[in-house]
Amino acid sequence: MAALSLRRNRDNRHIRELTREVRLHVEQFIQPLFVVEALREREAVPGLTEVYRDTTGTLLRQIEADLGQGITKFLLFGVPARKQDHDFSHAATTDVIGAVRRRFGSDIWLAVDVCLCSHTTHGHCGILNDNRDHVLNDASVTALADAALQFATAGADCVAPSDMQDGRVAAIRAALDQAGLERQSIMSYAAKFNSAFYGPFRLAADSAPGSDLPLRDRASYQIDPGRPADALLCAERDAAEGADILMVKPGLPYLDVLALLSSRIHKPWAVYQTSGEQAGIDLLAERGLTDPVRAQLETWTAFARAGANMIISYAARRARRYLDA
Ligand code: PBG
Ligand code: ZN
Repeated sequence: MAALSLRRNRDNRHIRELTREVRLHVEQFIQPLFVVEALREREAVPGLTEVYRDTTGTLLRQIEADLGQGITKFLLFGVPARKQDHDFSHAATTDVIGAVRRRFGSDIWLAVDVCLCSHTTHGHCGILNDNRDHVLNDASVTALADAALQFATAGADCVAPSDMQDGRVAAIRAALDQAGLERQSIMSYAAKFNSAFYGPFRLAADSAPGSDLPLRDRASYQIDPGRPADALLCAERDAAEGADILMVKPGLPYLDVLALLSSRIHKPWAVYQTSGEQAGIDLLAERGLTDPVRAQLETWTAFARAGANMIISYAARRARRYLDA
C-alpha cells in the first residue's frame, strides 16, 4: 500500500494551486470608506489598520491610492457633523458622492450605506416613539427611502440599507423607480445580526446607541444570533422586494447562515467582515500573535467557500498585496 493517498495533492504549491476549489481575486472586494463632515484632518479608526475617518480631500486621495491597488468598488458611510432626530439633512454626503463621481466617473462602483444611526441623537437606526423605547418602523422607512433617493440622485451606483426595518427595500425601489433611477441597485443588509463585532465601526460612524435610553441596544430590530430562520425570512423578503444583492453580516460568526442562504436563494451574496472581526485580526497581528496575511486570507477563503460572491472588508485595500505575498 502506498503511504500517501490524499496527501499527494498537497505535496507542493503547484499541485495545491491546481487542486484548489476556492479562489480569491481582488475584483471581488468592496472597501468601506468613512467621510466625516467638517473634519479638519483625517483620523485613524481605533483597532483597524489603514482605515480612516476621512475629510472630502483625504477621501479622494484615498480612493486614488486604492485604485492603484486594484480596488474599484467602495461602500461609503457619510457621518454628519450635527445630530438630528427628524428632517435629516444628507447634503454633506450627497456633496461627497457628487465629488467622487465627478473625479472618478465610471472607473469606480460606489455603494452608499443608508441608515440613520449616525444622524440621530440617540444612535438608533430609525426614528423613536415619544417614550423612546421603540423604533417606529414606517416613519423610519420613509426617512430611509428619502436618503436613498438623495444618494442615488447624487451619483451612487448602489444604495445599501443597513437599518433592519421592515419594508425598506420595497420603499427604496419604489422611490428610485419613480425618479427614473432604474439602473441604480439595492444591496440589502438582509441578514444583519445583533452583534458584538461592530465596535470600531460605531466609533468611526459615531453611531453607538446612547446608554441613557430605555432602548439601549439594537436587539428589537437586528436579528437574534440564535435565529437563523429569521435570517432566511429576511433574505427571502428582501429578494422579493427587489434587492439586487443580499448580504450576511457579520461574516465569520455566521458562516453557517451564509452557506445556507446562498444555497437557497440564487441572488448575488455579499458578506460583511465587520469592524470587530477585522480588529480581531489586526490587533492579534499587532501583538505578534498571528501572521496578518495568512489570517486574512484564511477568513476570506472561508467566505468564498460558504458562498459569498463579494467580500466587504476593511482590508480590501491590502488584498492585492496579500494575494501576491
Ligand atoms: C449601522 C451599521 C453597522 C455597521 C454598518 N452599518 C453596525 C451597527 O449596527 O451599529 C457595521 C459595520 C462594522 O462593524 O464594520 N447601521
Ligand atoms: Zn444604523
